[in-house]
Amino acid sequence: MDILSFLLISLKLLFFFYDFAFAIDSISSSESISDGGRTLVSGDGRFELGFFSPGSSKNRYVGIWYKKVPDKTVVWVANRIKPINNSSGVLMINSTGSPVVVMRQNKTVVWSANLTKEAKSSVVLQLLNSGNLVLRDEQSSGDGLGSYLWQSFDYPCDTLLPEMKLGWDLKTGLERRLSSWTSPDDPSPGDFTWGVELQGNPESVMWNGSNKFYRGGPWNGIAFSGGPDLRHNSIFEVNFVNNEDELYSTFKMIDKSMFSIVVMNKTRNLRERFTWSDTTQNWNVYSHEPRDYCGYYGRCGAYGNCITTQSPICRCLDGFKPKSTGYRDWSEGCVRNNALNYSKLDGFIKFNLMKLPDATNSWVNKSMNLEQCRVKCLENSSCMAYSNLDIRGRGNGCAMWFGDLIDIKQNSNSVQDLYIRMSASELGTKEGPKMKIVVIVTATAAVAGVLIVGYYIYKKKSEGKGKTDQKIEDLELPLFELDTIANATNNFSINNKLGEGGFGPVFKGTLVDGQEIAVKRLSKISTQGINELKNEVILIAKLQHRNLVKLLGCCIQREEKILIYEFMPNKSLDHFIFDQTRSKLLDWTKRFHIIWGIARGLLYLHQDSRLLIIHRDLKTSNVLLDHEMNPKISDFGLARIFNGDQNEGKTNRVVGTYGYMAPEYAIDGTFSIKSDVFSFGILLLELVSGKKNRGFYHPDCNLSLIGYAWKLWKEGKLLELIDPIFGESCNESEVIRCIHISLLCLEHQPDTRPSMSSVVLMLGGDNVLPEPKQPGFLMDRKPQLEPDSLNKPDFSSSNEVTISLLEAR
Ligand SMILES: *[C@@H]1O[C@H](CO)[C@@H](O)[C@H](O)[C@H]1NC(C)=O
Ligand SMILES: *[C@@H]1O[C@H](CO)[C@@H](O)[C@H](O)[C@H]1NC(C)=O
Ligand SMILES: *[C@@H]1O[C@H](CO)[C@@H](O)[C@H](O)[C@H]1NC(C)=O
Ligand SMILES: *[C@@H]1O[C@H](CO)[C@@H](O)[C@H](O)[C@H]1NC(C)=O
Ligand SMILES: *[C@@H]1O[C@H](CO)[C@@H](O)[C@H](O)[C@H]1NC(C)=O
Ligand SMILES: *[C@@H]1O[C@H](CO)[C@@H](O)[C@H](O)[C@H]1NC(C)=O
Ligand SMILES: *[C@@H]1O[C@H](CO)[C@@H](O)[C@H](O)[C@H]1NC(C)=O
Ligand SMILES: *[C@@H]1O[C@H](CO)[C@@H](O)[C@H](O)[C@H]1NC(C)=O
Ligand SMILES: *[C@@H]1O[C@H](CO)[C@@H](O)[C@H](O)[C@H]1NC(C)=O
Ligand SMILES: *[C@@H]1O[C@H](CO)[C@@H](O)[C@H](O)[C@H]1NC(C)=O
Repeated sequence: MDILSFLLISLKLLFFFYDFAFAIDSISSSESISDGGRTLVSGDGRFELGFFSPGSSKNRYVGIWYKKVPDKTVVWVANRIKPINNSSGVLMINSTGSPVVVMRQNKTVVWSANLTKEAKSSVVLQLLNSGNLVLRDEQSSGDGLGSYLWQSFDYPCDTLLPEMKLGWDLKTGLERRLSSWTSPDDPSPGDFTWGVELQGNPESVMWNGSNKFYRGGPWNGIAFSGGPDLRHNSIFEVNFVNNEDELYSTFKMIDKSMFSIVVMNKTRNLRERFTWSDTTQNWNVYSHEPRDYCGYYGRCGAYGNCITTQSPICRCLDGFKPKSTGYRDWSEGCVRNNALNYSKLDGFIKFNLMKLPDATNSWVNKSMNLEQCRVKCLENSSCMAYSNLDIRGRGNGCAMWFGDLIDIKQNSNSVQDLYIRMSASELGTKEGPKMKIVVIVTATAAVAGVLIVGYYIYKKKSEGKGKTDQKIEDLELPLFELDTIANATNNFSINNKLGEGGFGPVFKGTLVDGQEIAVKRLSKISTQGINELKNEVILIAKLQHRNLVKLLGCCIQREEKILIYEFMPNKSLDHFIFDQTRSKLLDWTKRFHIIWGIARGLLYLHQDSRLLIIHRDLKTSNVLLDHEMNPKISDFGLARIFNGDQNEGKTNRVVGTYGYMAPEYAIDGTFSIKSDVFSFGILLLELVSGKKNRGFYHPDCNLSLIGYAWKLWKEGKLLELIDPIFGESCNESEVIRCIHISLLCLEHQPDTRPSMSSVVLMLGGDNVLPEPKQPGFLMDRKPQLEPDSLNKPDFSSSNEVTISLLEAR
């Protein structure tokens, strides 16, 4: 056994050295690369060039792929348009010095490179460490970009590599644009392309054919105003070059242990950025654009503001109203409340955190300042907005927009201000006499505020001898005194008790200043030990999202372990949807709003919060509702944090709640973001049907709620699943779409379940969804769960507590 593995290792090593010794990175005029023969490998072994067949196709192409993955990641293809249907292809340099791909037998050229200049001497075709295939004079060392006779980086396919330029060589007119593959089996250029639009204020644009599909927006010196936030990025650095000779965007790696690429994907209508980490040996999605449904070009029409977390997502900017009065018809955008005078009587209102409008009709001057920009914009009656061109430092340069402003949105990632032209009357409402009142009121409030705060500081100092100044792990999280909490909750009075969570009772409290709080008192015998508590505290303190419940502080004193949260007046979701009377308060519009919020909150946990967090106990009783029925995910006692590159875990201690646990978690103890997706799927079914998955009972069939949903899906009778209380509010296509999405989330294989970002896209979009596969846990009714009958509804959450199993080993 040992000898065998030793031999195997030796053999592998031998092949490794063999490979290494014989790997070449270039060919000269007399050499060639033929199909089935040797390949070119870049000096550092990262990239390889050779013949390959994509997907299930039998066609042969010459391509460059990322060599570190067993499953080829093809980054460039030479003969994308003209494949060879057998193994007769050869890549060589023809007698005039051009690289060509020919078919050996009948000598047909299927691809040839167009040289930028004539070769003077003999030439070499070399695969560089960057993944760039270059043709250079044999004498030149070949590191100056300009000295190449030809380079593959000038003819991108669907992948952008570090150091590649996306955009224009203004001298030669060469445009470098990415284009998606037609399909995973066919690398020929698809409809989706991405490049830089040449215009007054150039911007990064993704096209579907000749139509704009998504804009990254103009570059503002730091980032594209509508693209991902690049400010705190230690992995790669994006740059934009705009001068007389060149106009392009590019990026380079800062963290040399990582590697990153951007790929256009036609199937998903996205461009995705992947990062490679040598430790995990796989690609992780770092970001994607469009980020969400609001990303699609001009979604809300002129002057419309798209806000992903709202339903409907379109709003008008302040000072504008919907053009058409029809509910949810936003395609026509918004119009002004007060008409412009088109003279110097007009003025500008500043909007912040903006994705800048479509810059097709724009004009820029790099040396004008913001005030000169304002004056010039005011002079021209078709100028509707202006901003700084570059926002670094105090900002400089001037950009102006003519005509209606399209594809704007307020985006918390952005740091961009936009000044929009408004009528004098509109300005009046903002800065006129009312302004003074506001100032006075604000000033009075501020003075009062200082006095109140001062009083409390004084009071706290004088009364709080036992007050600790500690902060948990330097997170600015207040530690409360046990006495304060006892006072607030009437000494943990039974009358203040809100319910019983998995780890102990929850009380309502009122602090001296009137603020209402929820107090989670961890029972002394609870399985949530000090570690789980710390876990929860540290975790939630870092999380800031409107769909996550906010932790105000904690208290660890004597034997007590207490968490203090913002108070949610409407309790939890199960309190409503499983109750015959209260469920009427949540019509479909409200439920959809809740679904949307939960999805956003979960997406934040999984992907947007810089940490990867798996909740592990998502269920209706852990979704709380604020006074406006906005959902907030709570109870992070079981959550796990992962480092960026790890995304799956395994545990011997299976904790969670029956009825919500994904099969692979309940059975094997493996959990991942996809097990949360499964729980989300259950939640979705419950919200739509108003029935509990656990304890679901249908008189006609012996199926779980999942099984019942699947049966109805197969029979095409999904409408039967819908909670009859929706009545008028029911938007059938939306409900059906939600059930469809939930079935995708419930698929048995974690890999085939969508990620939360896809779920959010699917919820907001109207494109065709994939066919769901058979869900997990179909017929599986746990014997220890006695089915509640439908006539005996059961709304207390106490019998749905989180369970904790020690798996026998
Ligand atoms: C390749 O294409 C040619 C002409 O289209 C055809 O005659 C030949 O049979 C094909 N070869 C294979 C292996 O499919
Ligand atoms: C490959 O296909 C080409 C054209 O279709 C044909 O001329 C050639 O003979 C074929 N070669 C082999 C080895 O099948
Ligand atoms: C070689 O084969 C290709 C593919 O079948 C065909 O298009 C081309 O005309 C052939 N060339 C010659 C010189 O026969
Ligand atoms: C070599 O390829 C180039 C580019 O296609 C072409 O212009 C030239 O005529 C070819 N020369 C020969 C001898 O085939
Ligand atoms: C080379 O130039 C010709 C003519 O301009 C063009 O049709 C062809 O697509 C170019 N080839 C490549 C590989 O860019
Ligand atoms: C892309 O454009 C085509 C043709 O206009 C259209 O049919 C298709 O739906 C568009 N795709 C998307 C994802 O919008
Ligand atoms: C595009 O996405 C689909 C679905 O996730 C995937 O199968 C395909 O490999 C992706 N294509 C590329 C070029 O990444
Ligand atoms: C603009 O205001 C001036 C002065 O109030 C008025 O005379 C003029 O008609 C107005 N123009 C428009 C286009 O409303
Ligand atoms: C830009 O503004 C500066 C200062 O106002 C001016 O001197 C210059 O001519 C302007 N350039 C263009 C192209 O308008
Ligand atoms: C306003 O600016 C646009 C675009 O630069 C220009 O075409 C138009 O003539 C200008 N109008 C006036 C009145 O200056």
